[in-house]
Amino acid sequence: MKAIYPGSFDPITYGHIDIVKRASRVFDEIIVVVMMNPHKQYMFSLEERLEMVEKSLVVMGKITVDSHCGLLVDYVRKSSSRIVIRGLRAVSDFEMELQMAHANRRLLPDFESMFFMTDTKYSFISSSIVKEIICFGGDVSEWVPEFVIEAFRKKTR
Ligand code: PNS
Repeated sequence: MKAIYPGSFDPITYGHIDIVKRASRVFDEIIVVVMMNPHKQYMFSLEERLEMVEKSLVVMGKITVDSHCGLLVDYVRKSSSRIVIRGLRAVSDFEMELQMAHANRRLLPDFESMFFMTDTKYSFISSSIVKEIICFGGDVSEWVPEFVIEAFRKKTR
């Protein structure tokens, strides 16, 4: 069975990687979709985010990486899977995820959301927190791969 894992991945963290590892024990194939919203400001371009996601995940096998600009349901509609994976770190994530799951199901009735819980050690990190810490020179090596740190360095040099 195949599943879709969408996200901004700006940048990918070990929290995202942990979700993919967990999901790959359940699904035969996971399509990781780097989403692009023209109204949103990203630190990394779509190409940079795609490259970091590919480097982090393709070595795991079973994973393909894609990108999409627009509504998630439009991507899902064209796909051969209706199952969308999302990660949950804490109860605070749940409310937004529930709203998205209901809205997506309203737009596409056979859209199915499945949630995986991150390892406790990643339960408080997000791409935004990583960006904040690294911008002020903090050490984020526990939360993102080395090549992500290198990409930050290139951006802020
Ligand atoms: O990594 P993120 O930023 O938490 O991912 C959120 C994302 C990109 C999956 C979500 O915002 C999304 O699906 N955006 C695409 C636009 C869309 O379909 N919006 C309606 C969802 S209710």
